[in-house]
Amino acid sequence: MSAQRKDDHVRLAIEQQDGPRGVNQFDEVSFVHHALAGIDRPDVSLATAFAGVSWPVPIYINAMTGGSVKTGVINRDLATAARETGVPIASGSMNAYFKDPSCAGTFSVLREQNPDGFVIANVNATASVDNVWRAIELLRADALQIHVNTAQETAMPEGDRSFSSWPGQIEKIVAAVDIPVIVKEVGNGLSRQTVLTLKDLGVSAADVSGRGGTDFARIENGRRQLGEYAFLHGWGQSAAACLLDAQGAGLPLLASGGVRHPLDVARALALGAHAVGASGGFLRALLDGGVEALVAKLTTWLDQLEALQTMLGARTPADLTHCDLLIHGSLRDFCADRGIQTGPLARRFGAAEAPHETTGSSQ
Ligand code: FNR
Repeated sequence: MSAQRKDDHVRLAIEQQDGPRGVNQFDEVSFVHHALAGIDRPDVSLATAFAGVSWPVPIYINAMTGGSVKTGVINRDLATAARETGVPIASGSMNAYFKDPSCAGTFSVLREQNPDGFVIANVNATASVDNVWRAIELLRADALQIHVNTAQETAMPEGDRSFSSWPGQIEKIVAAVDIPVIVKEVGNGLSRQTVLTLKDLGVSAADVSGRGGTDFARIENGRRQLGEYAFLHGWGQSAAACLLDAQGAGLPLLASGGVRHPLDVARALALGAHAVGASGGFLRALLDGGVEALVAKLTTWLDQLEALQTMLGARTPADLTHCDLLIHGSLRDFCADRGIQTGPLARRFGAAEAPHETTGSSQ
């Protein structure tokens, strides 16, 4: 059952890559162009750091799979691409391993193929502390991801229906492990209130994983005979909305969900993410063209991100938070209703050196 579900997820996620896409709110974030802001390419670094973690690049392969023969092969190939490019990588949910230890190899291949890379183990919010330790040990994991996915579980025919234990279990796991713990959504976003709760629970960072890319409510609904949960398609907030919502919440943020190209990466970094992940798009490249195609895609993304930073005058990914951003359309409406001021984002560049004269409202 579990192995079949993992194969279904891959198939349905890939179908979504081909299907029509709604509005992607990254398109509602634009940089103000400053033609003399450019710097020299050799001065640009892609290195990033958060919660005691240092990565050479601010892009990662986010959680996907493991638990079946087919997905073990996918993990082997994802890990090979991660090794070749130095990009951090997360496993898929290791619940399948807890239920059936005979599928261990479909996850441990992530470490075997990538002995020196940054590998993240992924578990759900009901995992026991003992199982979390087993997961970390199997992958010799450098960090842990705990996914929170109420919309997915709700649409999933065999999904969980009880969620009240999750905060307490997250707190227990955080207290029991000695590596950074990242809590992530799976494509429906984390609100400011959720991020503040996660901070109180002691987690190290939050990956907002918002709406706009892979839609897990839709995937699970696609596994139902009658598709009764079609009304949950597109549930939640985009990564861009979540980053704006959680500004200043005091917890390091990562971003994923609907990231299509290096400009989306730069947008998310400029909105305050320390690193940016993608899943469905990387899976698509791998299944279409093999490891070579995924390596080429990751290499191009890193190269083009460096090019964008050079043009925007950002020596580091963190420097992108000094770039001026304009927020448009439905994202601007979201900000207005949530009491988020967009004006200050448009007046950040050079603010320390030469404060602008500001007039009128900051909205
Ligand atoms: C996922 N995702 C996911 N997340 C997680 O925390 N545990 C998991 O086991 C899985 N499984 C999974 C399978 C497949 C095939 C895909 C494509 C994705 C969710 C993933 O990590 C991410 O949060 C979302 O996919 C949104 O990012 P993209 O796909 O829009 O870049």
